[in-house]
Amino acid sequence: MPFPPNLSLESLKNLTSNGANELSGLHMRCFQGNEVWSPQEFLDVSSDPVRWGVYAEIEEEGPIGVAVMLDTGDDSELLTIAVHPAYRAIGIGRYLLQFVEETAIGRGRSRILLDVAADNPDAIGLYTSEGYGRSGSRKAYYDRGDGLKIDAIQMTKPITEVR
Ligand SMILES: CC(C)(COP(=O)(O)OP(=O)(O)OC[C@H]1O[C@@H](n2cnc3c(N)ncnc32)[C@H](O)[C@@H]1OP(=O)(O)O)[C@@H](O)C(=O)NCCC(=O)NCCS
Repeated sequence: MPFPPNLSLESLKNLTSNGANELSGLHMRCFQGNEVWSPQEFLDVSSDPVRWGVYAEIEEEGPIGVAVMLDTGDDSELLTIAVHPAYRAIGIGRYLLQFVEETAIGRGRSRILLDVAADNPDAIGLYTSEGYGRSGSRKAYYDRGDGLKIDAIQMTKPITEVR
């Protein structure tokens, strides 16, 4: 399926202090419990030299996809990636992931790390198909409320030769 005709992925925007409320609104549509980021968390990224991110937006909807990274030594950690439910399964998540990998290489990183909830087959499918391998797990890492705790799977990918 093609991208929405009014979405140009070549024009992804860098996360800045603008749009924190809208990005938090997008996050609320995509996550539950302690995984939802507040506007302040998006604002904090924009003023932190070791965190960076990009988002895609279309005029009538606002932001429809976002990815945020944290540089730590030789690694870059994917802190969050999310696509608006109405725009999923058309390649936006994969594009965002490939974009941040290439940007991380440009920033001198050699590996991407990430955590993913064990009950999230869509995201695990994306990461596996992009060459990420399982490197560990964290018990009861995500809190979905009402006492429901979900394990995190840790995944990594060397990015010196992404593709
Ligand atoms: C995970 C997420 C970012 C994927 O974004 P997306 O734009 O829908 O993904 P894409 O269209 O680029 O699909 C890429 C791959 O992801 C996997 N995938 C995506 N949607 C899927 C689905 N409904 N069922 C199974 N696999 C799926 C597939 O491997 C797919 O590749 P394919 O189309 O070649 O089969 C999106 O589902 C999302 O925002 N989920 C909620 C937030 C979240 O869980 N983020 C990840 C936290 S670790």
